[in-house]
Amino acid sequence: MTVLIRKVFLFGSLVVAALQATSITLPSLHRPQEATTFATSLVLDASEAAVAASTQPWNNPGQFHLNKNFSINATPTIRNYDWTISQKTIAPDGLERPMLLVNGMFPGPLIEANTGDRIVVKVTNNLVNGTAIHWHGMFQNGTNWMDGSGGVTQCLIPPGQSFTYNFTVPNQWGTYWWHAHAASQYVDGIIGPLVIHSPDEAHLSHYDEDVIVMLSDYYHTPSPTLVSWYLSPASDGSEPIPDNGLINGLNYFNCTLDSQALFPTHAPCRSNAPRSVFDFQPGLRYRIRLINAGSFADFQFSIDNHTLSVIEADGVDMQPVDVHRIPIHVGQRYSAIVQANQEADNYWIRAQMNLNCFNEVNPALDASVKALVHYTGAPVSQVANSFDWAEKAWPGRCLDLDASMLKPFVVRDAPPADVQVILDMSFQKITKKRVSLGYVNETAWVPLKKTATLFQANKGKTNFATTQLIVTLNQTQTVELVVNNYDEGSHPFHLHGHQVYVVGEGRGRYIPGESPLNTVNPLRRDTITLQTFGYTVLRFVNDNPGMWPFHCHINPHLNAGLMVQFFSLPSAVRAFKIPAELKKMCNA
Ligand code: C2O
Repeated sequence: MTVLIRKVFLFGSLVVAALQATSITLPSLHRPQEATTFATSLVLDASEAAVAASTQPWNNPGQFHLNKNFSINATPTIRNYDWTISQKTIAPDGLERPMLLVNGMFPGPLIEANTGDRIVVKVTNNLVNGTAIHWHGMFQNGTNWMDGSGGVTQCLIPPGQSFTYNFTVPNQWGTYWWHAHAASQYVDGIIGPLVIHSPDEAHLSHYDEDVIVMLSDYYHTPSPTLVSWYLSPASDGSEPIPDNGLINGLNYFNCTLDSQALFPTHAPCRSNAPRSVFDFQPGLRYRIRLINAGSFADFQFSIDNHTLSVIEADGVDMQPVDVHRIPIHVGQRYSAIVQANQEADNYWIRAQMNLNCFNEVNPALDASVKALVHYTGAPVSQVANSFDWAEKAWPGRCLDLDASMLKPFVVRDAPPADVQVILDMSFQKITKKRVSLGYVNETAWVPLKKTATLFQANKGKTNFATTQLIVTLNQTQTVELVVNNYDEGSHPFHLHGHQVYVVGEGRGRYIPGESPLNTVNPLRRDTITLQTFGYTVLRFVNDNPGMWPFHCHINPHLNAGLMVQFFSLPSAVRAFKIPAELKKMCNA
């Protein structure tokens, strides 16, 4: 049965933005408050500039090499964290800019726990705007209000106040991350890794060392300015193009390129900022946990001379599959085992941004983001002489690793669908301002203020604001979610609180009965790329009561409205005892 009726779009609305070779100039916009308050702090005081230029005190490379003393067999415990979020000027690639940081760190602190543990994070907000922290991939079964989705599961933590997230991780493990889920804040630095261990993990005995590699596209201009531009007629629907990319928060940048950037900053800049270096000891096997914590770019990850044996996707163990390159879109994670079996030397780690996914050219961008593997005994260097794999990196389109290659280790067939939901997503310029907004069916999401859809649902409300597309699922059943992408872009969609079965994908629109489906041990994960002008068919069991966002993880697209919410098990949600301190924040 179809609960939502498909809308037919005019062909004209499919053509979003033509390629523009000329560079764009920043129009003078009426900026929202956030942009203004953020921009005032662009002026650096000299002493702060000097510190940022000489060292990377804000970067903790040690946390990305997991400590072997962490006992994965420990009895369940509470993992306590105390975080303060504040604005700070740093220079991840040598060019200074104000960022929003947790405990002054970029990337932010690692959360590491075992299945069965409780994670308690006290978040103090020292920003000028409200914030919320989301634990990407955590099921939060029974604690939907700890999901950290601004306007959905909570009101933002007001400036100057604290809120303590408190949840358990009873039945999941693998590689996750956390990030701000308020406005565009995570793009400005509020990101970090989250790793859950379990003795039940499939491939524990197949590696010796455990390493995190966070990839992110990176912008020299604070996100409020970029988002204002994107949501103005001036952008014509083209996303801001990154100035650089980072690996674990570091990269080189040639400062002379700033003046050619789409948004030049003229900020203090020191060339030759260091890249991340990963030490390899010959003979050991490394588990590399890849996280795309960026906001727009799709990367293809590789290490010269080293095969990647993929063993995990988004917290789901996979049967090992060897590849040379892993495409990874925003919000996704993979683990791959790499053997340190090459000659002791330095090798490039490459995270190549897929330029086919961009509408513009940013002359300041080197899309080949790099880090280094350094073998013990080889000379220490910031460059390598190694060569990229010979086969071409890109098929031309922005696609996930072929779903048929990724077979979950714990075999599960997709259950038959009890209900089908059809979602059509598109970008349309139908507002008066002629701004291109992201629509799921006929709704472009705008976050609620002073309340959250979860709180409304908890009070028994069943009709929501017209800016909220809410799909109500009254009982636990298998939902088949058909998403048609009427856009020329690819869109990494993330479903909060669940893993989904990927049962079908292809070009064009989904045709029931004709488009092929695979229900035999299909890929399961939590973030899936919808291909250009294509369809994706997902299934999930809605056994988790709450209000769960399903949204494009490309930050500008989320800001343009590409989000729908699954309202799962309303009677259980009405019975939720939501902590008073959480609701209190709505009155701030
Ligand atoms: Cu990492 Cu709602 O997302």
